[in-house]
Amino acid sequence: MSINLIRRIKMAVLAQQMRRDWDRRSRENALHYVNTQQEAWDESEFFSTGEQNVQDQILSDLERICGVRDPRSMRALEIGCGVGRMTRALASVFGEVHGVDVSKEMVQRARRYLQTTSNAHVHRNSGCDLRALKNLEFDFAFSFIVFQHVPSRDIIDNYVAEVGRRLVPGALFKFQVQGYESAELSRRRCDTWLGASVSERDAAEMAARHGFEVEHSMGSGTQYYWLWFRKK
Ligand SMILES: C[S@@+](CC[C@H](N)C(=O)[O-])C[C@H]1O[C@@H](n2cnc3c(N)ncnc32)[C@H](O)[C@@H]1O
Repeated sequence: MSINLIRRIKMAVLAQQMRRDWDRRSRENALHYVNTQQEAWDESEFFSTGEQNVQDQILSDLERICGVRDPRSMRALEIGCGVGRMTRALASVFGEVHGVDVSKEMVQRARRYLQTTSNAHVHRNSGCDLRALKNLEFDFAFSFIVFQHVPSRDIIDNYVAEVGRRLVPGALFKFQVQGYESAELSRRRCDTWLGASVSERDAAEMAARHGFEVEHSMGSGTQYYWLWFRKK
């Protein structure tokens, strides 16, 4: 068996595990597992945390994200959209938003919450690629508190490759990964809550491999390691 095939089989096995675990978390208490700050959320309060995140991570960074373009003319991708907490707020900024999520249970809830948001679309994906999006291209891609749960660097790397294929040249992929590494984390690599860590070197290599330039980064070595990858 080739190394590539073994790698693909490992990713598929982990994707199954992620789907199972996130479906279970969603059935148990979806809003809590999306935003663990509260056990029993009031829905409007929960969605206002998504608006706040969009304010902090998107609206305050519009120049980098859009350049001279009007965000209403842009199509944005959100990886790991959960129940649509941020998707709803993203749809008030961008012309069209597509969220993908590995969990069928999360996707069902997101579709319900986004029923009246006609420019937001939610797709269930495999957990390691973007084939569910058919031939859509994007002007911006984003992911928050998702890769920090993904237990395999190969899967994160594969997402970067897939995003690279779908972004138009010059577009931005802004995403957050787990930058913190410890012996405890290495032991728990197969846990779908504590994801694989990404170092500065990993990030630089991923960007170079998949046609991006690391334009900016923040928080390396912490849980909130933010990366701004510019598609060449
Ligand atoms: C903590 S929630 C965050 C949801 C959303 N990003 C937000 O900020 O509201 C993590 C989400 O990532 C999804 N997820 C986890 N692993 C994934 C993967 N490999 N591919 C796609 N989605 C994934 C989970 O199903 C869950 O909905």
